[in-house]
Amino acid sequence: MALQDVGYAAPELEQAAIRFANDAVQADRNGSRGTAISKYQQAIDVLNKLVTLYPGYELNGIYIQRIRAYQQRVRALKGEALDETSEESSAPQLRGETPQAKAKYDELVIKEKPSVKWEDVIGLDDAKRAIRESVVYPTRRPDLFPLGWPRGILVFGPPGCGKTLLAAATAAEIDATFISVDAAAIMSRWLGEAEKNVSRIFSQARSTKGSVLIFIDEVDALFGVHSNEVGGEVRVRNQFLQEMDGLSEKGKNSSVYVIAATNKPWNLDAPFIRRFQKRIMVSLPDRDARMKTFELYSKSLRLAPGATAEAISQMIESYTPSDIRDICQSAQLRVVRELFESGQADKPGSSTREITLDDFKDVLALRKPSVSPDMIRAYEVWYDNFKAL
Ligand SMILES: Nc1ncnc2c1ncn2[C@@H]1O[C@H](COP(=O)(O)OP(=O)(O)O)[C@@H](O)[C@H]1O
Ligand SMILES: [Mg+2]
Repeated sequence: MALQDVGYAAPELEQAAIRFANDAVQADRNGSRGTAISKYQQAIDVLNKLVTLYPGYELNGIYIQRIRAYQQRVRALKGEALDETSEESSAPQLRGETPQAKAKYDELVIKEKPSVKWEDVIGLDDAKRAIRESVVYPTRRPDLFPLGWPRGILVFGPPGCGKTLLAAATAAEIDATFISVDAAAIMSRWLGEAEKNVSRIFSQARSTKGSVLIFIDEVDALFGVHSNEVGGEVRVRNQFLQEMDGLSEKGKNSSVYVIAATNKPWNLDAPFIRRFQKRIMVSLPDRDARMKTFELYSKSLRLAPGATAEAISQMIESYTPSDIRDICQSAQLRVVRELFESGQADKPGSSTREITLDDFKDVLALRKPSVSPDMIRAYEVWYDNFKAL
């Protein structure tokens, strides 16, 4: 891999993948098979790049699962193309539980436990408290909640501030089975399949022993008011709402939770929002959290004495945690590049020089914060209207 490739930030890649996937789903629904295949393929390529560039990334399990789901869909679409003359291709809904449908469903969800720890999530104290009270305590002592507890938690805010991370950490904290569902992947199934997938997810969750956390990332792709109403969406939405209602009714002994995350809460419709009794904003880190985030991601770097968390946290005021991680990575890349260009890299025992405050300044000059003050205001306005902590 060329060193320069590392210039792509993880959240930019993730956002690009989401855009491609959403376009693919749209094309898929409209019957534009060729476009759908190429958009899914682009999403796959971007996600592959992401997991290759950042092999240690905590959330790679989720991305790999998405890659599989999209690959599955590409294969299905290509298969359909080959079958064009067969009778089934004009009515592609699958009825009944064929082994084929089962395999597809299994690729749609991952059930592995995330390795993210609660302590790995920096800041977000309000969000963590809300989750502790509505998920962690009820799982430990359900007897203390005779009136039940909220099942739906909506986590919203700008990209790169820890929504996905927090959901993964929650699953680890309550030792739950983690069912991670990508909304785009649900919708990309053949029409008529999507609602079946929704009910499968919930019935599987109900029949699993212990706590289950269903995590729906980028939920606006599934419930966005702007998604066009070509067949199926209304039914999928209603199915989902019904399943959510079922959770609180059959309530008491079941410990199924749903956490949904979105960057675009304003795209969600009122009936959907109502099902999520807790609505939590995950926003930019304050100064203390910025310092801690910097300390976390610079832990393994050689820093010059002037490059302190204190100094740097002043310079990164509106940067997201994910930006901060990238900044550390870019700063390291500078000194690595220097070492290679000096021809010393292959000498045994050679090492990079210390990273100085000026290195960070240079990196910051080339990298604007990924979230603008206008965006933050938009989240705050939405929060004022829909707050539920
Ligand atoms: N609060 C945080 N504490 C520590 N690291 C964070 C935090 N928020 C984001 N990150 C870093 O940025 C990456 C992307 O965060 P993610 O949870 O995917 O953001 P979101 O889902 O809000 O877009 C994480 O994997 C982590 O490395
Ligand atoms: Mg996310």
